[in-house]
Amino acid sequence: MSIGHIHLRINDRAIVADDGRTLLDICRAEGIHVPTLCHYPGLPDVGACRLCLVEIDGQRRPVPACTTPAEDGMVVRTETAELSDLRRKTLELIFGERNHICPFCPRSGNCELQRQAYAHGMDHVRYDYLFPQLPVDNSHPLFTLDHNRCILCTRCVRACHEWVGAHVLDLDNRGHLTMLIADSGVPIGQSSCVSCGTCVTVCPTGALFEKRSAHWQGRLKPEFMETICPGCGVGCRMHASVRHRQIGELRSSGGPNGNRVLCEVGRFSLVSPLKPRLPDVRVRHGRAWAQRPLQEVLGEIARRLDSPRIAEDPTRVITLLSPRLPLETVTAFVSFMTDVVGSRRWAMLDGMNAEAVRAALGPPEKALPLAGLNDLDDADMFLLIGCHLERSHGVLASYVRRAVLQRRAKLVKLNPNHTWLTDWTDLWLPVPRGRDQLALAAILKYLVDAGQTRFPIPPPLLKALQNVSDDDIRVATGVPADALREAARLYGEAQRPIILCGRGLTRHGPGGLVGALNLVKATQRRTPAGRWRLMELPIGGNSAGARLLGPAELNLDSLNPQTAELAFVVISDDDQAWPREWLNKLRAVTYVIALVAREHDVLDVAHAAIPTATWSERAGTFVNVEGRVQKSRRLMPPPESCVDEIQFVSTLARSWRGLSFTWSPPTLPTSIRHLADDHMVPSGPGDEGVDLMGLEALTAT
Ligand code: SF4
Ligand code: SF4
Ligand code: SF4
Ligand code: FES
Repeated sequence: MSIGHIHLRINDRAIVADDGRTLLDICRAEGIHVPTLCHYPGLPDVGACRLCLVEIDGQRRPVPACTTPAEDGMVVRTETAELSDLRRKTLELIFGERNHICPFCPRSGNCELQRQAYAHGMDHVRYDYLFPQLPVDNSHPLFTLDHNRCILCTRCVRACHEWVGAHVLDLDNRGHLTMLIADSGVPIGQSSCVSCGTCVTVCPTGALFEKRSAHWQGRLKPEFMETICPGCGVGCRMHASVRHRQIGELRSSGGPNGNRVLCEVGRFSLVSPLKPRLPDVRVRHGRAWAQRPLQEVLGEIARRLDSPRIAEDPTRVITLLSPRLPLETVTAFVSFMTDVVGSRRWAMLDGMNAEAVRAALGPPEKALPLAGLNDLDDADMFLLIGCHLERSHGVLASYVRRAVLQRRAKLVKLNPNHTWLTDWTDLWLPVPRGRDQLALAAILKYLVDAGQTRFPIPPPLLKALQNVSDDDIRVATGVPADALREAARLYGEAQRPIILCGRGLTRHGPGGLVGALNLVKATQRRTPAGRWRLMELPIGGNSAGARLLGPAELNLDSLNPQTAELAFVVISDDDQAWPREWLNKLRAVTYVIALVAREHDVLDVAHAAIPTATWSERAGTFVNVEGRVQKSRRLMPPPESCVDEIQFVSTLARSWRGLSFTWSPPTLPTSIRHLADDHMVPSGPGDEGVDLMGLEALTAT
């Protein structure tokens, strides 16, 4: 045996393999077929189904290939008459144990159990059927759990635990009474399930099936296409099964860093639109809509753009863009606004304060180098500030849950709202809105007190800090000083802490994000690549991409509608709920043009509506939370009635100004992080821009 390698024979073939692998791994790598049911790539094996049995010389009975480590000198057989007979018997027992009536199953034709039965020539069952009376759990709105078809392979249990970190599913009871349960035996729809659908994806039978696509199977095979999810800044990669202009299912195809799950948005919501398509170009007449030709609507918009009020002040034109749009569409509108209209008043509809992020981190091309998704996988402590991860970045919540569940990572949450993840925290700091900066300064003060910082503080400030009492801190931050001291202890003791900063942290300006940066800088928390152990989390699929187009001069939260005369609202099929105030503000704008794929609340306040393509009917560029530039793919063509947004602004520019408006696509490297690398902060201790203002503010309280 050479170091690290073993020599063995499988089916009379001499094989050299890496040490430490299972027989199944080696067979798969060598192209030797071994049937499996409970094995799923990437999940730990448990040897539950016994279908992968193989014979080994010297062993009295066959062993499961999936759980047997290969050893030097082994002589293995995977195909013998005895093994075939054994596997067929195993399949018959599985079929007879529960109610696998294939013609009535939504997975028929796409079921691993059925496929194995055919492959092993199992045309009938020679044992008595048990026909147990088992329940069908239909309590979840998105999928069904039919215990009659469950083969207890535990793929779903392992995926929910290992990948999702939710640990909702488990087995209860023993022997033939064994049942899959959710939590402590509640209906799955009432359990702590986060609706990611990973269990449905890995289930080999019709035991777990998606309600929306239950009857989608058919004789025509779907086409599988790779794309990315525009749902949030994580930008998960996924593959879609598409047939007849319909998406059957979306599955993770190994996210940006090998992550294997999607969240509810990517897995279900993107393909479960509740609202009908906008069928045609239309304009409002009183309370009713009337269908009109596009040219007529463009003419009307051009006429309004020529109005004296807009001619006098072009910034009376505003544009609001969904963060789920490709960068090409966003760029076209921003160019149109800037170069043709003469207004930089555009904003992404993500509720983020991009100006504050820019002020704290610098412009994207020179932004501080921050941690990436890979760095979450070895973090031993998370400090979550101003984010509701389960809702905003569902897959990141999985990273955090996995770390807490599997690596015993510490979790501290600084947010006034109690969310599902709050129950997983070691410490919850319900700091009232607007006081994050002071709370972070207080944590820094306690780190300074404990001698855990590595930056010089001017003696007068140090003295002033020492004079800040616990009571002052409680009054200033709204939480007990002991809790903040404990947060400082947990952060200070962690070796690889990561601070995750959400939208809420910058709502009141850059101070909160600066406070979080102070913590990582003052304690010199860097990744091995020298990045600061902090992630700022853009909300939408292209919130980060839009920042590359320069500062937007519109903040919808502070918009005075009296200063807007005409608004373009470009949202495709982004169905995220709008705050009531946004609609109220738009209601006061003289003329609103909505470019939407489906019916949306904005149509209540719009004067003209243009039908556009959905996310799956267009291709484009997205930039994710770690600056990775990714391409989404067009999965199907849009209906003929749809108007392409880029064509729309080009034609409008022509018909209004006679300008041949040329939109130039953004030229991006594969990752904008490379740009940041040029501005890497030198490693080693030092103050490197620790902003003392937060600490000064604390002493002033
Ligand atoms: S529900 Fe599906 S994945 Fe889960 S144990 Fe049953 S058969 Fe296996
Ligand atoms: S949907 Fe996700 S969280 Fe819910 S049981 Fe399945 S794997 Fe677990
Ligand atoms: S985490 Fe974001 S990108 Fe990933 S599936 Fe969910 S919404 Fe889509
Ligand atoms: S695949 Fe090996 S026991 Fe199931």
